[in-house]
Amino acid sequence: MKPFLASLWAIAWLVSPHLGLSATAPESSSLRHAAAKLFAIGVGINDHISQRTNDWPLLTAQFSTVTPENCMKPAALQPTEGAFDFATADAFVDFATRQNLKLVGHCLVWAKDDRTPAWFYRVGQQPASRELLLTRMRQHIATVAGRWRGRIAMWDVVNEALDDGTNYLRPSGWEQACGEEFIAKAFEYAHAADPAALLVYNDYNTELPAKRAKMIRLVRSLRAKHIPLHAIGLQGHYELDQVPLAELEATLVAMRELGVKVVVSELDIDVIPRAKWWAEGGKYRAELRQLNPYRDGCPPEILQRQAEQYAQLFQLFRKHAGVIARVSFWNLHDGQSWLNEFPWQRVNHPLLFDRAGQPKPAFAAVIHALTDAPP
Ligand code: G3I
Repeated sequence: MKPFLASLWAIAWLVSPHLGLSATAPESSSLRHAAAKLFAIGVGINDHISQRTNDWPLLTAQFSTVTPENCMKPAALQPTEGAFDFATADAFVDFATRQNLKLVGHCLVWAKDDRTPAWFYRVGQQPASRELLLTRMRQHIATVAGRWRGRIAMWDVVNEALDDGTNYLRPSGWEQACGEEFIAKAFEYAHAADPAALLVYNDYNTELPAKRAKMIRLVRSLRAKHIPLHAIGLQGHYELDQVPLAELEATLVAMRELGVKVVVSELDIDVIPRAKWWAEGGKYRAELRQLNPYRDGCPPEILQRQAEQYAQLFQLFRKHAGVIARVSFWNLHDGQSWLNEFPWQRVNHPLLFDRAGQPKPAFAAVIHALTDAPP
């Protein structure tokens, strides 16, 4: 540390108890400082953050990058053809710019029919032709990515196009009309609209071997056609005791070998396992809807296991920092997590900060994993 900075630090340390400041070095109290030499630390955050002043100190101390949780999705921006609504997203972009936070746009195409406004696919009662669908896609992307050209660091261009079952691509209006070409076109249109933005393909469960193979196929295919795909987004919605570390490492290595960057785009560790929700045709759903085990608080032993598993994840991210451009959590603190609502209502505790914005054991574990002496 330079002498001037050292004396400033010493003064801060002496007066800090009187100011209510932490006397610790920035690396030990801030995720973004602790990870500064490795990758950016981001967060997916409430669309109305510009009005939520109570959230600002935690946000700006810990994170350098923000993704709007919902307001840039196609259904939010263009619910009916040509009727764009930019009010919330504009306020979000202005807020992030004022606060010196980098922006991730999310998302230009969501390859799921229930997340895409139905008008995209139809002309009256008939399905839209391939040409019309691509024209509508180009207009949407040119208007949206063009609006904030130069202000969005990264775009999630296509979200969740790979199938969870035996198909390569998820069946959707996009896939039905255009096959894989809709993905290639989305990246071309995004690059034309904002040439400086880093363009991401974003999906979940791509650690798992079958879906990883589909992602490798997609990356190879787009690369062979010289499509401007720059990074893969691994969403990272994990469950306690089920974090797929070895498979995740295999995916990180595969992406490095393919020459694409990785962003961990939506990280959390659910403490109430949810896989049963989709098992055996949904027969456990009525039972799960009653399950709310941590409504009065999360037991210390669960928080400890969560901390250990977050630490293992960040040790892995650190080991592969050469390929990872960013790690973003999905939501600011436990009280704001989507996992309180989905797939059923429960009091959840998946993040590093509790409902009061206070650090949980997982916070110190992650800081330690990012900053302790290399193994
Ligand atoms: O705003 C309305 C509100 O007016 C209404 O009263 C309420 C009733 O349900 O719904 C509110 O909208 C909800 C919206 O979140 C805002 O809270 C929607 O129903 C709900 O579907 C929506 O969920 C979002 C979900 O994506 C679907 O868009 C979650 O907040 C958001 O966290 C989640 O994020 C996704 C990523 O985009 C992609 N990867 C997975 C991730 C988690 O599902």
